[in-house]
Amino acid sequence: VVLSAAASGAHPTNDDKLRDIYDASTFRTTKMTFPHRIGAKGDARAGMRKFGFAEDGVTLDSSQALFEGHSVIYGNVVSNGRTCASCHRRDNGAFLGMPALPLTTSVAPDDPLLTGLHADAQGDPDAERNLIELGLPLYRPGRFNPTLADDDPFKQVFFWRKSIRLVNTVFTFGFLNDGRTRDISETARGAIFSHTQEQDARFDDLANPNINDLAAFIEEADIHPPELRALLDPEDPLHDKLVRDPFYTVHPQTKLEKQGQKVFEKNCMTCHNMPNVFSNIEHQPAASLNMGPPIGHTFDIGVAQKNFHRLEFRRFDKATQQRVPVVLPLVKQDGTVVHHTVVDDVGLAAATGRYEDLHRFKVPQLRRIKDLGPYFHDGSMQTLEEVVDYFNSPDYNNSPDGRKYPIQMNRQEREALLAFLRIL
Ligand code: HEC
Ligand code: HEC
Repeated sequence: VVLSAAASGAHPTNDDKLRDIYDASTFRTTKMTFPHRIGAKGDARAGMRKFGFAEDGVTLDSSQALFEGHSVIYGNVVSNGRTCASCHRRDNGAFLGMPALPLTTSVAPDDPLLTGLHADAQGDPDAERNLIELGLPLYRPGRFNPTLADDDPFKQVFFWRKSIRLVNTVFTFGFLNDGRTRDISETARGAIFSHTQEQDARFDDLANPNINDLAAFIEEADIHPPELRALLDPEDPLHDKLVRDPFYTVHPQTKLEKQGQKVFEKNCMTCHNMPNVFSNIEHQPAASLNMGPPIGHTFDIGVAQKNFHRLEFRRFDKATQQRVPVVLPLVKQDGTVVHHTVVDDVGLAAATGRYEDLHRFKVPQLRRIKDLGPYFHDGSMQTLEEVVDYFNSPDYNNSPDGRKYPIQMNRQEREALLAFLRIL
């Protein structure tokens, strides 16, 4: 039996060409400018309270953080008790993220993170296990898109995604694991709707007065190391130094760490190339809000297709209590339509409908990375060793972008790279 390139897992060459055309035409600038930031429109202190923290910035306090009341659009909104800090908390001084897994060891059974499960779970029988054991809430990227009918596959398609730790979030081009939202305010508004109610309904009038404060808080919250703040202000004397020397704020001491920096420059900076932040710098300069083409540069490095946790991606139909496949009509750059049966996390394609965006994810920032696990959009890697071994494996090297940017490291280079990653 001769397998076609597509059936054997490799993609035909013309697909790669189409990806290139798209990349070349879309990712136009590498300027370090972060327009509309930092928090110019909101009050970070008020945002912290609305996020779900008390005045100390650590203790959970939902008294000013519940989104409820009368909405002209929705009617009476009743919160399930969840706040942003339910999933983005500071456990033991950690950055804003999910508490330790399994959640039963770190949160009480009556914590709204668990009791509010149905808001994002949407009746899926796997939701409780995936949240408690793996820290993965269910996400439907098209859930609040008013232009999609209920039976539209782009409204039905869903993911299991890790709650990103909010570190250096202000330097992001394209938010969420797949980079599908443009702006922190837009991202915060979606979060308000997703996590507090089971309906697919929006209450913009109730949410909007809060989102600039929330955005200001997130932008200010965790900038690490603090000198990176100068990147936000082109007038700051430090600004050009940070832009010109990608390692200005990184201080390797040992021989191993210094060698690790070289290994990183050679193998990792094709993608993790934003100076001193190590996300990806390429982006559209002035992307419009609300579902234009994505703003940042995303890649398919094969993680989604491996589906290491064996997560279920068929939709659970409440009426029949059956799993039903979701089939997305994805449009290729040449205009042909591919009916793609969803068996794993389709990544950015679920938001753009573009075949070329299948399994693409944003390039996460890497500062303080040793404290940010579990890694990848599905939390499938527990340690930095596992992440580095993934990039050094056939799984990465045979993925669409792995074939473009192959990585081979010997034992010594691997050790050096790990030593370097630990000081970021
Ligand atoms: C039930 C858990 C949960 C709650 C509650 C929650 N989040 Fe999140 N958050 C997530 C997950 C999961 C992701 C990644 C989603 C994805 O990739 O589609 C995320 C991603 C984000 C991001 C993107 C960060 C980045 O680097 O791209 C921001 C910003 C954010 N959340 C803000 C908020 C705000 C503001 C609130 C409160 C209104 C909130 N979150 C409430 C789970 C949660
Ligand atoms: C072809 C582009 C590309 C290259 C080359 C690359 N990365 Fe990544 N990296 C990504 C993308 C995309 C993700 C997100 C993948 C996901 O979530 O599924 C990622 C995720 C990561 C993560 C997980 C971050 C988190 O918060 O979960 C780490 C750590 C990482 N990369 C380190 C490295 C190192 C070290 C190298 C070099 C050995 C490297 N990367 C090379 C694109 C790349």
